[in-house]
Amino acid sequence: MGKRIEDTVLDALFREARTYSKWQPRPVDDQTLRDLYELLKWAPTSANTGPARFVFLRSKEAKERLRPALAPLNVEKTMTAPVTVIVAYDLKFYEQLPKLFPHSPGMAALFASNAELVEATAKRNSSLQGAYLIMAARALGLDCGPMSGFDPAKVDEEFFAAGKPCFGCDQEFFPEGHVKVNFLCNLGHGDPSALHPRLPRLPFNEACSLL
Ligand SMILES: Cc1cc2nc3c(=O)[nH]c(=O)nc-3n(C[C@H](O)[C@H](O)[C@H](O)COP(=O)(O)O)c2cc1C
Repeated sequence: MGKRIEDTVLDALFREARTYSKWQPRPVDDQTLRDLYELLKWAPTSANTGPARFVFLRSKEAKERLRPALAPLNVEKTMTAPVTVIVAYDLKFYEQLPKLFPHSPGMAALFASNAELVEATAKRNSSLQGAYLIMAARALGLDCGPMSGFDPAKVDEEFFAAGKPCFGCDQEFFPEGHVKVNFLCNLGHGDPSALHPRLPRLPFNEACSLL
């Protein structure tokens, strides 16, 4: 606490980490995926809502279910990745608040009566949790390839449709299902020989202001 971490760690998390499209033929075991969640779950979300839900696609069959939803440029990199994560959000996240935010019993009712607040909270915090997943994966020695090039309606229909078993919830009374995809992220050990030169980033003065 209060101590800056080593530069080698900052390199691994930020400066030298890249987005990968080609993968080494090295598997990622289920324990690593559990370790990944056990790390990312500690990062903050508003009112400790934790609305993100993660579906890890490891088998060929699971990947084939995703294929029709993928943009053409994302098919090969996804089908060859050891794991693809569907980073999703649960629009009924507030049902977990008695457990996750027990000192404020009114919080669940506040969300239950405000669909706009639910959607904004679910999207904002699941995006954050997706970013935490990327950083946790890098910390565990994995590489990532996040993607927004896909048809969300197709992903939602295939994996989260009403009536389908989903995170132990009964979706019967939520006409379109209550879990929605945010983005996809390939995971594995990247092949650095396929990387293109790194793109620039905005310098401090163009992206930040000091008031
Ligand atoms: C939310 C998100 C969506 C992305 N969508 C795609 C995508 O659909 N296809 C793709 O090839 N790359 C996609 N990317 C990869 C970005 O283009 C890449 O991360 C960025 O250019 C930085 O590359 P670098 O990490 O190698 O520096 C996406 C990245 C993020 C974070």
